[in-house]
Amino acid sequence: MFSSDSELIFRSDEEQYFDFITGAAGLLAVAGVGVAAASAYNWINKPKPTQLPFELDNQTLVEGPEFIHYSHFSKQGNAIKLISYIYEDAKTLYDGFRRGVRVSNNGPCLGWREGPTDEYQWLNYQESLLRAQHFGSGLVALGLRPGPETLVGIYCRNCPEWVLSEYGLYSFSMVIVPLYDTLGPDACRYIINQTEMSLVICDNEDKCKLLLNKPPACLKQLVHIQPISKETVELAKRKNINILSFECVQRIGAERKHTPMPPKPEDLCTICYTSGTTGNPKGVMLTHENVVSNASSVLLQLGDEKPNKTDVMISFLPLAHMLEHISHVGVFMGGGAIGFFSGNIANFMDDMIALKPTISPAVPRLFNRIYDKVQSGLSHSPLKRFLFNAALSSKENDLRRGIVGKNTIWDKLVLKKVQDSMGGRIRLIIVGSAPLAGPVLTFMRCALGCIILEAYGLTECAAPTTLSVHGDYTTDHVGAPLPCCAIKLIDVPDMNYYAASGRGEICIKGANVFKGYYKEPEKTKETLDKDGWLHTGDIGTFLDNGTLKVIDRKKNIFKLSQGEYIAPEKIESIYIKSQYVSQAFVHGESLKSCTVGVIVPDVESVKRYAEERGIPGAHSVLCNMPEIKQLIMNDITDLGKKGGLKSFEQVKDIYLHPDAFSVQNGLLTPTLKSKRSELHSFFQSQLEYVYRKFN
Ligand SMILES: *[C@@H]1O[C@H](CO)[C@@H](O)[C@H](O)[C@H]1NC(C)=O
Ligand SMILES: *[C@@H]1O[C@H](CO)[C@@H](O)[C@H](O)[C@H]1NC(C)=O
Ligand SMILES: *[C@@H]1O[C@H](CO)[C@@H](O)[C@H](O)[C@H]1NC(C)=O
Ligand SMILES: *[C@@H]1O[C@H](CO)[C@@H](O)[C@H](O)[C@H]1NC(C)=O
Ligand SMILES: *[C@@H]1O[C@H](CO)[C@@H](O)[C@H](O)[C@H]1NC(C)=O
Repeated sequence: MFSSDSELIFRSDEEQYFDFITGAAGLLAVAGVGVAAASAYNWINKPKPTQLPFELDNQTLVEGPEFIHYSHFSKQGNAIKLISYIYEDAKTLYDGFRRGVRVSNNGPCLGWREGPTDEYQWLNYQESLLRAQHFGSGLVALGLRPGPETLVGIYCRNCPEWVLSEYGLYSFSMVIVPLYDTLGPDACRYIINQTEMSLVICDNEDKCKLLLNKPPACLKQLVHIQPISKETVELAKRKNINILSFECVQRIGAERKHTPMPPKPEDLCTICYTSGTTGNPKGVMLTHENVVSNASSVLLQLGDEKPNKTDVMISFLPLAHMLEHISHVGVFMGGGAIGFFSGNIANFMDDMIALKPTISPAVPRLFNRIYDKVQSGLSHSPLKRFLFNAALSSKENDLRRGIVGKNTIWDKLVLKKVQDSMGGRIRLIIVGSAPLAGPVLTFMRCALGCIILEAYGLTECAAPTTLSVHGDYTTDHVGAPLPCCAIKLIDVPDMNYYAASGRGEICIKGANVFKGYYKEPEKTKETLDKDGWLHTGDIGTFLDNGTLKVIDRKKNIFKLSQGEYIAPEKIESIYIKSQYVSQAFVHGESLKSCTVGVIVPDVESVKRYAEERGIPGAHSVLCNMPEIKQLIMNDITDLGKKGGLKSFEQVKDIYLHPDAFSVQNGLLTPTLKSKRSELHSFFQSQLEYVYRKFN
């Protein structure tokens, strides 16, 4: 799946945004009382159902003994040919952008607003390209060598300068390496060191300061976008790091006018670091061809619905992730415009209304929150709920017949407020990064009256690999393979999944598949096999009609000495339901016949228990008491039984650890998942001790 880091953008500030949506839903349709009597569907201008070049019940081509699945779009005559590009003049990102200049006829390209009440301002395509080239030329003047061996960090939130930096670097065949906050400062330093970066572009003073604190030896220059204080300039000077502003670099570049040195399709364009569940972040190497093949496949499959020069996309998901990056590339190739959110997610709704975008990428979490808020907003008023549900069921009827739009009387009277809260013009949303519940997807399709497609992919294959087709309004699948890649399933015997019976690990091959992890040949070998198949770690099945459904994740699984397979996450998910348990880590080894665990007790509940019984002592003392351990053992064993755990799955003993697993102590990923191998080595001696009595 796409790194779920992209979802981290929605945190506490999001409440205001969602309150707005609920407010909108709450306002709905008092006027609509008369509508209940109106005919169930009443199109003002009825759209036609979508026509597809293939049948919905037969969405993929299947070839050969391995049942390799291909897109219908990759069939050329009798042969299957995976595509790398669709436009002869856009085989690299640099050329894709220049295509945008041409097809938009120098239309608006990059938009931003200074403050939450300001209008959007725009840079046209030609101006954007020129500024990007000046910036690139400025970097060359500062001593960077043109060519794909030069890696440059971009440590910014989404903004026009991000894109100007990116295309400035491509103008001289240099490679972008996005850095982002959720990586954490240590990982950022690790990446700068691993890539031997000499220059990083930061948006603000905080990020400059963060890098100036213990800068890796290779870091020599910083470029800042927003103004910075004298102190920071002094600090940089003391650390022997040249620091200058984005404008200054542009100015130098404009004076020097180095001639661009555009990249070739096979050149590296980005190294995308993903923070895995274990160890250091891994740098996914993607070439221009990887990214272009991907974006081109999406455009090919979108057909008439692909972005064109009349489109405006809102950019708010982190650009450091491929889903957003690919969306940018697709919009640029079609000559569309990209408007950036103002940087504060609390103002996101205002930005939507000011920008009136037609296209948006999205993550399931956003949809889930809108869905929940609208539902709870409706729960207080039976009348509103009745109208809303009537509107939705009418639109769902149309949806089933392949008709999508926002032109019915229901839209005008009931759903318009929801649509207007997103600017009122959204026509296309591509959602990815995590599984999305069917009812939520159908709800959003009906309420927004726009095309919403679900994508599946990973950074390692430059984002989407499959995409549901426009015209297929069913849910709970991720569509058919895109025309740039082939997909097959392979056996995972440990989990009882066999390709011959239609289930297995999803493997991908094609122009979008990455070249490997940067300086990590071992890790590359684990993911990319010798025939070029990328092993995703996701378990999938192809439905009868050729669409892919992701059903499971290749788990951390181990075998106990008596031959039983154990999936520790399942056991942990049951144990953490105990009021006494805050975090759990279940461990087993193939040489042992039982599992053991580390439990972080819940401070409050354990304290309450102890106080009620007059047991004195601080939390760390309580954690050492046999009585407390027995209490927790009994409770989790009980929960395990109720939760259907087999006796060999239940832990036979535990160690109580007083301190939480956290991102800071390196035991959790930035997305708060357990780092299993770190946990194992951290608790090695305790686990050995606990195991000792079972020998
Ligand atoms: C594809 O098959 C699945 C499973 O049989 C079904 O739920 C879905 O509705 C089908 N999609 C279409 C477009 O027929
Ligand atoms: C699906 O479509 C392909 C190519 O269009 C065709 O060869 C194949 O027979 C179809 N399969 C079914 C089950 O209809
Ligand atoms: C990276 O870090 C290591 C260890 O601290 C150091 O030896 C090496 O010189 C650094 N490399 C660069 C390019 O800064
Ligand atoms: C752009 O795409 C939209 C949606 O498909 C379409 O209605 C419009 O005609 C297109 N405009 C151009 C100039 O192609
Ligand atoms: C696009 O890129 C992603 C990841 O980089 C990859 O997984 C996916 O397969 C690509 N899509 C296509 C159609 O090549």
